[in-house]
Amino acid sequence: MIELAPSILAADFSRLGQQVSDALACGTKRIHCDIMDGHFVPNISMGPMVVKAIKPLVAKAGAIIETHLMIEQPERYIGDFVQAGANLVTVHVETCPHLNRTVQQIRELGAQVGVALNPAMPLMMLEEVLNDVDLVLVMTVNPGFGGQEFISESVDKIGRLKKMLAARKSPRRGDVHIEVDGGIHLGTIATAEKAGATIAVCGTAVFNREGSVAENIAALRKAAGN
Ligand code: DX5
Ligand code: ZN
Repeated sequence: MIELAPSILAADFSRLGQQVSDALACGTKRIHCDIMDGHFVPNISMGPMVVKAIKPLVAKAGAIIETHLMIEQPERYIGDFVQAGANLVTVHVETCPHLNRTVQQIRELGAQVGVALNPAMPLMMLEEVLNDVDLVLVMTVNPGFGGQEFISESVDKIGRLKKMLAARKSPRRGDVHIEVDGGIHLGTIATAEKAGATIAVCGTAVFNREGSVAENIAALRKAAGN
């Protein structure tokens, strides 16, 4: 069963608390925060203050906050995000020349570790850290904006990542999640799940004007066959 991680990037920020509560009321257990710096990606979004603001709501529901850092030199801000309430910190391999050190930094701060790959980045970029991470995020659009079209080549990549994870000789931790992010909607979620994704980030498919958050989440779960 694929798990949904609603991305608040697509939420109505004038009533962010209500939107997050609506998603949590459907039993979602992870809220995805897209952090963009206008350098690594061509958009600016939110910082630790927003994470801190929604933390009490998320914690009360027994859920976690994922912070997806699309920022240069993420090591400068990991501490701030953990302090603000991030339970999982995901960094892009493209932004971390010392990825092993950054992974350790996140772990030492007590958060779960995620690593992300852009669509054009090969899986081998994270081969050497696979035993030390909790989650691999496969970007299924070029990061920066919500509402983009799913890149279909990603399906094969997800399958190859699944095989890579299964082939690990001495996994130090439990199962590693495969999270897909970008362009996941009613028409793509089942394909991503079938390929091996265990978590689907959904922005515009959850927060939009066509349906309520509850209706949209129910439809996504149905489309995924859950
Ligand atoms: C893109 C972000 C995504 C985005 C997904 O840079 O990482 O999390 O919010 O949005 P949708 O689901 O609308 O493609
Ligand atoms: Zn994201």
